[in-house]
Amino acid sequence: MSRNLNETLGKLLSFEENKHGIQLKADNATVEVIVYNDAIINIQVCKDGQEAGHSYALVAEAIPTSFSVENKRDKIILKTPKIVLEILKKQIRFSFFTLDGTLINEDDKSFGCSWLGTEATVYKKLQADEKFIGLGEKTRGINRRGQAYVNWNTDSFAYRGETDPLYVSTPFYIGIHNDQPYGIFFDNPHKTTFNFGAGNDRFAYFSAEDGIINYYFIYDTSIAKIIQNYAQLTGFMPMQPKWSLGFQQCRYSYYPDTEVMNIAQNFRERKIPIDVLYLDIHYMDAYKVFTWNKSRFPNPQKMLANLKKMGIQTVVIMDPGIKVEESYKTYKSGMKNDVFVKYPDDSCFTAGVWPGDCHFPDYTNPKVRKWWSDQMKEVFKVGLEGFWNDMNEPAVWGKEIPALIEFDYEGEKASHKKAHNVYGLQMARATFEGTQQHLKKKRAFVLTRSGYSGIQRYAAVWTGDNVATDDDMLLGVRMVCSMGLTGMPFAGYDVGGFVGDADKNLYIRWMSIASFAPFFRSHSMINTRSGEPWTFGEEAEENVRNYINLRYRLMPYIYSAFYEASQTAMPIARSLTIDYPLDGNIYRGEFENEYLFGPSFLVCAVKSTAMFSKIYLPKGEWYYLYKDNFYEGEQEFLFETPIDKLPIFVKGGSIIPMQSLTQSTAEKPTNTLDIHLYWGQNDHVFEYYEDDGTSFEFKKEQYCKRAMLFNSEEKSFTIEPKIGKYKSHFKKIKLYFHGFTLDKNVKVNSRNKKIKQENFEFIVPISHFDPWYQDPDTSKLIEDLPFVEFANTNESVQVEW
Ligand code: GLC
Repeated sequence: MSRNLNETLGKLLSFEENKHGIQLKADNATVEVIVYNDAIINIQVCKDGQEAGHSYALVAEAIPTSFSVENKRDKIILKTPKIVLEILKKQIRFSFFTLDGTLINEDDKSFGCSWLGTEATVYKKLQADEKFIGLGEKTRGINRRGQAYVNWNTDSFAYRGETDPLYVSTPFYIGIHNDQPYGIFFDNPHKTTFNFGAGNDRFAYFSAEDGIINYYFIYDTSIAKIIQNYAQLTGFMPMQPKWSLGFQQCRYSYYPDTEVMNIAQNFRERKIPIDVLYLDIHYMDAYKVFTWNKSRFPNPQKMLANLKKMGIQTVVIMDPGIKVEESYKTYKSGMKNDVFVKYPDDSCFTAGVWPGDCHFPDYTNPKVRKWWSDQMKEVFKVGLEGFWNDMNEPAVWGKEIPALIEFDYEGEKASHKKAHNVYGLQMARATFEGTQQHLKKKRAFVLTRSGYSGIQRYAAVWTGDNVATDDDMLLGVRMVCSMGLTGMPFAGYDVGGFVGDADKNLYIRWMSIASFAPFFRSHSMINTRSGEPWTFGEEAEENVRNYINLRYRLMPYIYSAFYEASQTAMPIARSLTIDYPLDGNIYRGEFENEYLFGPSFLVCAVKSTAMFSKIYLPKGEWYYLYKDNFYEGEQEFLFETPIDKLPIFVKGGSIIPMQSLTQSTAEKPTNTLDIHLYWGQNDHVFEYYEDDGTSFEFKKEQYCKRAMLFNSEEKSFTIEPKIGKYKSHFKKIKLYFHGFTLDKNVKVNSRNKKIKQENFEFIVPISHFDPWYQDPDTSKLIEDLPFVEFANTNESVQVEW
């Protein structure tokens, strides 16, 4: 008789109901079915001798939820208020249904949970109409069907459209089947594989090289809610310092200090807004972290202070490798405190990175994280508030790290095979905790290249060493949207491309698109062409200024979107799969680079070489940003897409708060809030949010929240009373009506108010191109509304037409 190499769960031997769900004993393993909340069921499968152990991703605990268990002859049925789980007894298999019996997801009938040696796999039936999205920082198209991906954090220099794996592992995807979206989070940090029907027509499966089967099945009514549930499990992005939402200029590397000041001055003199400049590895002495190269930066404290006076923050790079050098303070302290990762024979692991031979702190040890935070004390003395963690996959010359090296793993001990994918997460955590320890009352900014599920709790993520081509620019757009679907709203790419030289048009287009990226940073590699706007000539400079200006004027809108992301994990760059998951057109290759920036702006990322582009407008009403031309959705159009006009459309019904132009987020705008209303058939709510942008006082209700409501049928726009104690900076409101048919009079709080016509310039026109302005007939304005004390009125404001 032939022996099966593949082992499955086998039959049910017994089961027991408990507070959080049920425990099943099967032939080959024990299964805990844990109801986390109405929408999340956790399946944890341990073979003999296995234990669940510590999860670096998870922050939630199961909350007692009502559920029922029904024991039938051939199956057990567990019901939560949202999900029905059927467990077959003869060969244990799991199937998930909606309450009305629609199948959402089911195990393959022969395999379900299986093992091949230590490799654990869950085989799901690949359904005929099923689509797959998410999985975070991954290349290729937005629908992952027919593709397979590996999660193993990798320094992927100059990656391209097919490269896999990259720097970050977030083993969470969303499937859409029978018109129902569901999420699966496979919390196993080992090297994992996700196969969505690649090389077979039978399964969508996920497997881990080792460790237990531990997955969370999420079902809810919308993709937005599924993302929110995933964030409930793995954490939300905290409120960020407002300056990190501004434009950021980076270079490998700016030095000496006079060069940094020169760049800063150029931005200010040329009136190109900017908030952050970066120091890459050359600011250090021989690339040794926590040191300064004294001849290049004799007085970093003074330089940083001067930059801050100009409204510019400085962010420095920090790599994990600590140079092996007896006279180096950090090395000595590391040895003394026994912080480095070791071989099983107790000798330190050594590998080459920028500084030469290095040891590596074991950030999976709480004591080492504290040591790292303590080391950061020095850098705060010079005034830093922003940190950039790089090479934390970890990356070493020679690429491979021996599997046997050992990590503390919160006292549980793990080999590199288990600790690798969480190393970057734990470094970012140690850095973030360092900022909390030393900056105390101020929010800091941390950027990371590597991460695992939960990274959003500590850092923004950028997509590493991309290449300067049109295709790679569009790839970045898709990756950032996918990261948004995977709980990481604060993400971006190296604008202009890290590797290679962008030409003028590519640079212009990339900067225009990135003005609508959550994290907005231009960066390029050593020995490539300069990457500052003016180095691409006058036309580029003017175009880029326009788009950066627009981003700064949109700051009230963007800040509110960041707030929403911190509360609900709703991404800032929103894949169209969130709002239009069942519209087949949005998955088509020609349209998959379109996304929503916040709730209102449809950004169609098109190549710099495309002077005409096919664009799909999804359901709804849309206005071409620059001229207010109106389009009905669910249609495709051919648009002229000259280099100075990125195709952007505003959704009908939108409410968009804007402010006057500033050169940085540190500069105060005027006290008028411009609110743009776009007519549409559907009602719309915008939650306006404001706070001081720097402190944690918002936790003590020092914020100003006001719901803004557009009601199409009642022909009204309402601003609800303020919630919170913060006094808004804004005193006046100008209300702009786009696409409305209005009488001469509009009622504001039941009093008549005249409307004006305004030749409103949405973006400052550039001299030698077509001016970009609204058609005077479509944009109407009400100015200086009587509710001047916008900040402090506790009454609602009602505008009717
Ligand atoms: C890595 C980073 C890149 C950085 C360089 C030098 O390649 O991804 O952003 O500029 O190292 O530090």
